[in-house]
Amino acid sequence: MLSGMSITSDASPRQVAPAAPSSGGKVGLRVTRVETLAEGVRGLTLSAADDGRLPDWTPGSHVDLTFDNGLTRQYSLCGDRWDPHTYRVAVLREPAGRGGSAYVHDELAEGDRVELAGPRNNFALAPADHYLFIAGGIGITPLLPMMEQAAMLDIPWTLLYGGRHRASMAFLDQLARWGDRVLVRPQDEYGLLDLSVIGDQPAGTKVYCCGPEPLLDAVRVAAAGLPAGHLRTERFVAGAIPPPVRSTSFEVELARSGVTVTVEPGSSVLDAVAGAGVPILASCRQGICGTCETGVIDGTPDHRDSLLDDEDRRRGDCFYPCVSRAACDLLVLDA
Ligand code: FES
Repeated sequence: MLSGMSITSDASPRQVAPAAPSSGGKVGLRVTRVETLAEGVRGLTLSAADDGRLPDWTPGSHVDLTFDNGLTRQYSLCGDRWDPHTYRVAVLREPAGRGGSAYVHDELAEGDRVELAGPRNNFALAPADHYLFIAGGIGITPLLPMMEQAAMLDIPWTLLYGGRHRASMAFLDQLARWGDRVLVRPQDEYGLLDLSVIGDQPAGTKVYCCGPEPLLDAVRVAAAGLPAGHLRTERFVAGAIPPPVRSTSFEVELARSGVTVTVEPGSSVLDAVAGAGVPILASCRQGICGTCETGVIDGTPDHRDSLLDDEDRRRGDCFYPCVSRAACDLLVLDA
């Protein structure tokens, strides 16, 4: 994200790039280039520390980067997905952040090592007749490879890109080649984004939006008339986590491990199963990155993540144990 954006998405198919070490090992990367992309935005170019091939990825993917200081952050991949040797991410300085963006802006240098986990895609581009991309600030990052993909497939698209002011908006040079497909709308020149553009799109348009929460809220309202699944969003931070459906303990059976644990009200499923000797890979622990995704075999989950859409939840076959719980006495997981 991204600008140091923590990633979360709703209404998006989940997908892990085929070569990604998504369930275990980390890959060593080397920072090969650091550049200023816009006011408060740093771009990083990364290569495998052994100069080998990097895991494949698809538009909308993010990676977990772990820095020397132990911090792990998620960032959208915004470079060329067909370049097997290079990843690019863009990091927004977040003065009120928890230190990840400050580290990238103030300390990370060319030649430094970082650890990679992923890529993972919670914001995959689904087939459509037309796309409308809406970006707020650093939210442009996951959308860049989507535009490339749509152009490659000859699918028409439009980008509406807002930011505080022009100097703070990254990738304007790169976007200029798309001509009037791209509507650059800095707030100090145009005011808030005019979302009536959503209603002007041809039938079959899918809307992809990434940006700060107020933008996502406004887009959800403006897109209320779209068919189910035609709006896909990715958040910078976790949405509000609702109170659990049940306030009492419940059991979790781990089908593959043959272990059953009791999850007490004050414990997460993730911690409870780790305590029983079955660690599940996790990163954000906020229900936003998708790293801890676990299959559900039986029982009714109490979904509290910021990733699954209503359709995913109805299906009930996927679960994020870092925040989600059970709405029943016994939940059986594929772990
Ligand atoms: S969703 Fe990130 S660790 Fe669970």
